[in-house]
Amino acid sequence: MSAKKYYKFFKYFKEYHWSNIFAMLRNNRLDPKICNEDFNEKLVVITGTTSGIGYHTARKYAAHGANLLVINRNIQKSEALRREIENEFGVKCDFIIADLSILKDIYMVAEKLAVLNTPIDVLIHNAGIYLNKKELTSDGFDKVFAVNYLSSFIINYLVMNKLKSQQKARIILVSSEGHRFAVWGLRLDDLNWQRRRYSGLKSYGSAKTAQLLSMIVFDEHFKNTGVTINSMHPGAVKTESGQENGPVYRWFKRNFFDKILKTPEISAQALYYLGVSKDVESVSGKFFNLTTQEEPTPPALDKEVAYELWKKSLELSGLQDFKSKLSHSVSL
Ligand SMILES: NC(=O)c1ccc[n+]([C@@H]2O[C@H](COP(=O)([O-])OP(=O)(O)OC[C@H]3O[C@@H](n4cnc5c(N)ncnc54)[C@H](OP(=O)(O)O)[C@@H]3O)[C@@H](O)[C@H]2O)c1
Repeated sequence: MSAKKYYKFFKYFKEYHWSNIFAMLRNNRLDPKICNEDFNEKLVVITGTTSGIGYHTARKYAAHGANLLVINRNIQKSEALRREIENEFGVKCDFIIADLSILKDIYMVAEKLAVLNTPIDVLIHNAGIYLNKKELTSDGFDKVFAVNYLSSFIINYLVMNKLKSQQKARIILVSSEGHRFAVWGLRLDDLNWQRRRYSGLKSYGSAKTAQLLSMIVFDEHFKNTGVTINSMHPGAVKTESGQENGPVYRWFKRNFFDKILKTPEISAQALYYLGVSKDVESVSGKFFNLTTQEEPTPPALDKEVAYELWKKSLELSGLQDFKSKLSHSVSL
């Protein structure tokens, strides 16, 4: 182990507290707080609404009168969702088709959102995957890292000025208690798992930890602008998660895990509360277990790594070059 890794190990070891683990276990049993206010005519942007948590969240906001702009990779499912939502709730449900593992598509989404001529009231980064075997994207990234982290980083970065100019908006990152699987934090020197054996749990944990670290820096950029950014664990709920894995994984999920998981309606309830309730209007930079504020792991709170990751993400995603080409350059 290098000196830097030893230093991190001892630093985090001292910062881990059993009380935080017990708090998480207690919070896992709580129901989400409920917000009954309506959200008429507001615009909510949600990624990954063709199944699971995103689908139920889209329905929840629509049921309260919000218009939707959803970002999905599957056109048939998106058209079906649009029909369902518009017929049932009488609100607008537009969609953008994008594969959020591919840089070109992520940029396309970010650019469309950045020039929208209506305010984005709530932006929910929900799309996510869990893979038990390593997959690299066409851009050369670990797919889990690209979908769960990089897509939200690029989109947030490029819509930052628009959201600030609105003077009011909420960003919610659908994170996970699974960020705890990255026990000793991110390996910034090997984000794509080329120097170590891939682990599905650790890759997922690293991507979710990266997202939590990016929240720290985005929160600083949004200070006193009226824009908030928070993250949340949506509960352990029964969804289509893990469907891209092999038949053995899917069999276990169907026959064991799915039987003890809760309904994704609780996730939708929590995401509605965090997006709409006045109770959390000025709360920013926090992690919630459903709607209960909770302390994430020490590696997910490490500011030094957060800044390093920010710099690295700008380089990896090409935002560094992109920024200099933008006529309306992002001021950072
Ligand atoms: N379920 C849980 O217990 C749990 C716990 C903690 C955190 N989470 C988080 O909750 C979020 C939602 O997951 P879920 O459980 O609802 O799983 P899900 O049912 O599999 O939903 C995932 C959504 O993301 C979309 N998606 C996946 N890869 C994409 C890509 N490359 N481009 C665009 N969209 C993509 C999926 O689209 P397709 O329909 O095209 O596949 C689907 O709409 C994830 O971020 C997950 O990490 C879930």
